[in-house]
Amino acid sequence: MEGGILRQSGKAVKGEGGSARSGGGVRARQAGGRRPNGARKPARSGLFITLEGGEGAGKSTQIHRLAKYLKERGRPVVVTREPGGSPGAEAVRHVLLSGAAELHGPEMEAILFNAARADHIDTVIRPAIAAGKAVICDRFYDSTRVYQGVEGKLDAVFVRRLEAIAVGETIPDLTLILDLDAKEGMRRAAARRNPDEAPDRFEKESVRQQELRRKAYLEIARNEPERCAVIDADGTAEAVFEEIRRAVDERLGDRLKPAARSRAGRAKPAGRGART
Ligand code: TYD
Repeated sequence: MEGGILRQSGKAVKGEGGSARSGGGVRARQAGGRRPNGARKPARSGLFITLEGGEGAGKSTQIHRLAKYLKERGRPVVVTREPGGSPGAEAVRHVLLSGAAELHGPEMEAILFNAARADHIDTVIRPAIAAGKAVICDRFYDSTRVYQGVEGKLDAVFVRRLEAIAVGETIPDLTLILDLDAKEGMRRAAARRNPDEAPDRFEKESVRQQELRRKAYLEIARNEPERCAVIDADGTAEAVFEEIRRAVDERLGDRLKPAARSRAGRAKPAGRGART
């Protein structure tokens, strides 16, 4: 099946060896973080950190603090988000969060999330990493694994194949998983919402679903301990950030200072969706 067409639920997905899309994006996006000849990934001068968690885990507050911390350490920072983060991906975000794609099932949603992701990586994330910046992304592929994969009951192989096409070698250096009791997360998300604002497509789900998400995130962390750090999100913003800072220092401390090359790096400008 490697390199061929994978069939899941009657739909066809191009295998890793296929040219599912044309252009430099696909060439640079070789599947699974490995070049076809099995060589190691090329060294990157930038950093790529993603934050994940269920609803109400406090990602936005922590991202703000982390960006400030990294800037103080001398790293130029790009803060971005998914779904969205680039003009193309923001257009798809609207379709996803309005619930317009929900009717067509989790498979359709997973494909759209990855379409948005591919554009976001090509136009914002990869150029910023190449220029030596620290990219902090609010959600990334673990959200698709959890929300569409586990919760939407999609075949894991289907999800990984989509991910490989969209992401290729642009794998996070560190994923911070903000872990919080399901009920508390729902309570915080509701409290944060404007009283006259309806919950979005994914916020209106039940506590049971939120529990499922939590378990799925913890399983990802168990399976990929080198990439993921679980952060207890049930404390004050200061206490939570202290844990984040420790994880960042421990795992990326020796790479926090900008590389000499990165200061002179010339990358394409980040898309409009990126906030620096
Ligand atoms: P957003 O308003 O960005 O909220 P949050 O603060 O929770 O990040 O909404 C994004 C929603 O989209 C969120 O509920 C999770 C969901 N989502 C997926 O279902 N799959 C994905 O791949 C991504 C990136 C997000």
